[in-house]
Amino acid sequence: MRMETLLEVYKQSKYQVPGHGKRDFHVLKRVMEGMDGQQESDLYGKGKVIEDFQVKMSEYLGKESAVFFPSGTMAQQIALRIWCDQKGLKRVAYHPLCHLEIHEEDGLKELHHIEVILLADKSRVIELDDVIGLNKDIACLLLELPQREIGGQLPSYETLEAISAYCRDKGIRLHLDGARLFEILPYYKKSAAEICELFDSVYISFYKGIGGIAGAILAGEKDFTETSRVWKRRHGGDLISLYPYIISADYYFDMRVNKMEQYYEEAKELAAFYNQCDRVSTMPIVPVSNMFHVHFEAAKEKMETILTAISKETGIGLTGYVREVTKETSNYEVSVGDLYSQVPKGALKNVFQLLNEKMKEN
Ligand SMILES: Cc1ncc(COP(=O)(O)O)c(C=O)c1O
Repeated sequence: MRMETLLEVYKQSKYQVPGHGKRDFHVLKRVMEGMDGQQESDLYGKGKVIEDFQVKMSEYLGKESAVFFPSGTMAQQIALRIWCDQKGLKRVAYHPLCHLEIHEEDGLKELHHIEVILLADKSRVIELDDVIGLNKDIACLLLELPQREIGGQLPSYETLEAISAYCRDKGIRLHLDGARLFEILPYYKKSAAEICELFDSVYISFYKGIGGIAGAILAGEKDFTETSRVWKRRHGGDLISLYPYIISADYYFDMRVNKMEQYYEEAKELAAFYNQCDRVSTMPIVPVSNMFHVHFEAAKEKMETILTAISKETGIGLTGYVREVTKETSNYEVSVGDLYSQVPKGALKNVFQLLNEKMKEN
């Protein structure tokens, strides 16, 4: 008989620990239920539904203007292109593990012929000294907050302020990859507008902590966003109608933006449970947002077996996958959302007791 995979068992588990729940059609259905069917759709970037949401987001971010994009990938390549054109210098800098470098098939380089300087090493965030140490001029520095691929680490707020002041002084534009901006506000104890004030341009996403379907906002001064609209058209991003993404972004923004503190506190609690287990640690040890990575001193296949067994025995799913790091180590990512608070605490403690036992045995 074929053994069930970790993903199959995870999907069937009564309680799943991370996330907001299945990304199925209900995500859109729920939004549409309360909607007036007579409402007019947007048309090629114009119309009340898109314009109202753009104003709402520009106000939330404390920026003059905002434009809705179908994806962050499109929005950010465009942002960097605009800053390069403005300075007449096709060179930018960012972290070696940022989204543009590892998840976008080199779009920035292939489509825009922009040269990239990779700052800092892969295991840590960009610090002020990395920026000061640049030996070539750049048009723009991109900071991803939190730095997802290293567990969602963050620089200190003082470092952000210092990098921002340095860039302004040197004529370097500062762009924020704020795919998870909402999620870091409780750690910094700042408003989105206070953080965005440090940046010339900002991208935010509506399907991470907010839990929408897809979509992004690019914000900045009006000149910048107006130019971004032209590029959006050139990139084929002006879909005739984007309202399914916009109304779901708006709906889940209202529903979850004030829950980030809760997710953050819960992420710290959950990470502490992991860290009590033998040969298990989280990165960061104490999370600074709703996300972290769980690292095991055990091979991927071993962890799949252990986690599948635990999920079957308890009905609680910790993850649907494990990634290989080396032959002897493995990891996965956790993002805390609405589901965490539904898991009975006693049962969750039992899960970690079991994990600890199995890690000791194996
Ligand atoms: C840090 C970061 N930046 C940018 C993106 C791109 O967003 P999109 O999927 O909307 O293109 C993502 C998506 O996962 C991301 O995690």
